[in-house]
Amino acid sequence: MSLGNSSAVMPAAEHTAAAQTPVGAEVLRGLTSEPKTLSPWLFYDERGSRLFEQITELPEYYLTRTERGIFATHAPAILAAAAAGGARLTIIELGAGTASKTGLLLRSALARQPRLTYRAIDVSGSALKAARESLAQKFPTLSIETRVGDYTDGLGHLPCETSATSRRLVLYIGSSIGNFDPADARELLSGVRGQLSPGDRILLGVDHVKPLTPLLAAYTDSGGVTAAFNLNVLTRINRELGANFRLERFQHLARFNPESSRIEMHLVSTRAQQVAIPGLDLEVEFSAGETIHTENSYKFTPESATALLADGGFSVTHSWTDPQRWFGVYLATAVQDSRTGIGLRSDG
Ligand code: AVJ
Repeated sequence: MSLGNSSAVMPAAEHTAAAQTPVGAEVLRGLTSEPKTLSPWLFYDERGSRLFEQITELPEYYLTRTERGIFATHAPAILAAAAAGGARLTIIELGAGTASKTGLLLRSALARQPRLTYRAIDVSGSALKAARESLAQKFPTLSIETRVGDYTDGLGHLPCETSATSRRLVLYIGSSIGNFDPADARELLSGVRGQLSPGDRILLGVDHVKPLTPLLAAYTDSGGVTAAFNLNVLTRINRELGANFRLERFQHLARFNPESSRIEMHLVSTRAQQVAIPGLDLEVEFSAGETIHTENSYKFTPESATALLADGGFSVTHSWTDPQRWFGVYLATAVQDSRTGIGLRSDG
């Protein structure tokens, strides 16, 4: 198939069965775009999820360790602020993964209220299974619900009615929101806001802007784990769509884009080449040096994090950081929006 600019021609690829699956559709969209892109959710097959867990333990990858440190120091204060007025909480975590840092927050919540429901949502079933097993062992009284899926599609039926005495706390930690460009991040937060009631809370963990050296090192570790994580998306396409990507012909690249305040990850084609993707009935051409843009990881200031939450319908009441201010945890309240009416309850 030709990828020429005769845009009136409907590519045959749209008719293959694989092109209708989420992975096939995204690979088709991304590799026929100019410039080429692939969405970062494609990283997280079983091997990719394991590689990400390895990244979180790298000496260069300060994010997880720093956020965990903030929780270790401030979890009691975070939960006290979230439950201000003595409200009972139901905790819902978006993109929970293996929930390795969440235990610190759940422990403080359980110290305040004897019964607690925790719902974890993630695209990776294997990660959620690990989360459930480790949390059930640590917290025998915790009621755990897991939901495999894309949280941008919604939170599912939410347990617990918001009232004077109970409210929801949504956890969106780990700099996960950093994958979304500002417009999508705002839309995601408004979508979450739309499923909450006024007075419910969100706890958002974001990576802060910082000097280039530690920032770049976090995404180009000396052990090559991040490179393997990035290249794994090609392995996944080879396996799931029968493609013939040769991994030795692509190179991991991470760079900081200061205009957009984001780390970008790319896969650089080291030569002109063609790749066949039979599952999509597609041939993809690469010129030497051409890249596939595989991830954005946005970096925030306290001001930009607060503004993003405000745009999404949340008002920041508290924030916590580490001594170097490398990572920020923001607690915000779902507010009534007089413009859209979101949060104006029809029954009250
Ligand atoms: C899971 C999106 C928070 O952006 O730092 C780590 C993913 N990519 N190393 C991040 C990632 C490369 C990570 N997030």
